[in-house]
Order: sequence, then structure tokens, then C-alpha cells
Amino acid sequence: MKAIAEAPSKAIITGEHFVVHGAWALAAALPRRVRAEASPSEELTIVSDRFPGGDSRALAPVASVVRAVAKELSSTPRVRVLVTSDIPEGSGLGSSASTMVAVAAAVARLKGAELGPQGISDFAMAGEREVHGRPSGVDAAVCSRGGVLLFRPGIPPRAVALQGRRALVVAFTGTRRSTRRQITRVAGVKEAFPGMFRGLAEAASEASLAAAERLAEGDMKGLGRILSFNHAVLSAVGASSPSLDRLVDLALSLGAYGAKLTGAGGGGSVIAVAPRGKEKSIVSGLRERGFEAFRAEIPVVGVRSWLEK
Ligand code: MEV
Repeated sequence: MKAIAEAPSKAIITGEHFVVHGAWALAAALPRRVRAEASPSEELTIVSDRFPGGDSRALAPVASVVRAVAKELSSTPRVRVLVTSDIPEGSGLGSSASTMVAVAAAVARLKGAELGPQGISDFAMAGEREVHGRPSGVDAAVCSRGGVLLFRPGIPPRAVALQGRRALVVAFTGTRRSTRRQITRVAGVKEAFPGMFRGLAEAASEASLAAAERLAEGDMKGLGRILSFNHAVLSAVGASSPSLDRLVDLALSLGAYGAKLTGAGGGGSVIAVAPRGKEKSIVSGLRERGFEAFRAEIPVVGVRSWLEK
């Protein structure tokens, strides 16, 4: 008997970094997924396609999630977990949160418990804190719930209902980066310039509320303007990089309404929105210039788990 769980990846549409300091963020689950298979074993073993040799330091946070779930369910953590993923790691698309969420859901299912999305993201946070230091929780929340969420730390996330399906363009700079380092860098800007930072955090928070409305209505032109605005705010606190700025400019020159870095920045990915039907030609243009890019339709369901013989 084994339990399987699949969790989506994510894009932060607006408000990353500032959400760590209390602002609203808007996030969407994306179609790429992590799959976790949990089965009973003699000892706790984590196997990942990312670390074929079994990098024990990299996999320790995943083991923490298994232990936390087993402890909560008064059960043993003697489980073998196999993790496979099609999310580029360090790309800003939620590889870590999606892994923790899928593992929490698979282990709970193996133990006969069906945790709701809040329970799953709470357990995923045990691993997320080890990886990132001081995450806001937005990544785990959206990877477990799916859909589109307005998220602010300390209050329940708000699901944003879309009137129809929407498309985002996602492109990877090819440069991986550490979320932990980026969070520390932005926190340093807050410490150096608290008043200026407060103003920017308010702007990012407003951007998230406005972006949720535009996205729900399907006003992609308005959403695009907000994305570009938010990219400038993120650049002001040092979250961007020359390669991200170039990729944003490239998406705009190919006809996007607006574009920004997504996630921790410093490398990783950008998202762009475009006139309906234009996304495919933007993706082709980005690929022709050597970038990994794809069109992502939202909304996407959250984590799912099931048992198999
Ligand atoms: C990373 O996807 C988003 C950040 O805001 C960190 C966090 O919220 O935990 C950079």
C-alpha cells in the first residue's frame, strides 16, 4: 500500500517580499507539479529525483515534515518518501513549498488522515522554515489550496474567484537563487530605511488588492500595468537583477501588457500578462532567445492525495 499526493507549483502575482512584513500578496497555483509517494518502511527514507545521491542536508527539511505529521497523528515516521518534480528548483515557482505540501499530504494519507489545506500547509511550514528562515507562508498556502489567493500573514487566506480562465506567461532566467538570502537582503533594506520601506510595502499591498480585482474581471491590460508597477517597487528594495530586468523588458518588447519578477527574485523567473491569444507568440519569442518559457492557465486545483495498492 502506498499513498500518493500531487501539489501544484505557484507564481506570486504581486506582493512578494512585502508579504513577509505584513503586506497583502496575490498568488496563483500553476500547473507544474510535485508528486510524493509515501509507503511504510523500516526507517525514515527520503528519495528525490533532484538529489539522486540522497543529499541529506537538502532533504532534512522534508524529513522534518514527515516527523511533524507522524507526531501529530501519534504514529511512527518510519516511511519511505519518493519525491519527483517538474518544477525547476530555485526558479521562484514554489519547488520547495510544493514539495513540503505534497509530502505532508502523502504521509497523512498513508496514516489514514485527511488533513484539510490549512492543516497541510501548517505541516509544510515545518520544512519551509528550515529552508527559508522566515517565510510568510504564502507559498505553502497556495500550493495546498490551489486557485488564486489573497494572502496576508496571520489571517485566513481569501480565495479569489475568476470569471473564466486566464493565462500567464512564465519565463525562467536560468539563474537559480536562494529565497533565504533574498529575504535577508530585503529585510536589510527595511532596517536601513524603515520609513521608505513602509511606503513601498503599502504600495505593494495596494497593488495586490487592485491586481486581484483586475484578474477576477479579466482586465489583463490593467493587471499588466500593476505587474510592471510592482516590478519597479521590488527593484527599489533590491529584489531584481540584471537578468530579470532584461527578461521583463524582453517580454514587454514581445507585446506583453506588463511583466515582473515572481517569487524571491535575484534570478528565478518572471511572469507576464498579454492580450488574449498573444501569450503563445510571446512564449515562442522567449524560447527563440534561449529562455525556458511556458503559458500557464489558471485556476489550477490544489494538493490532491489518494491511496494505491
Ligand atoms: C517567495 O515565493 C515569496 C517571498 O515573499 C517569501 C515569502 O513570502 O515567504 C519572497
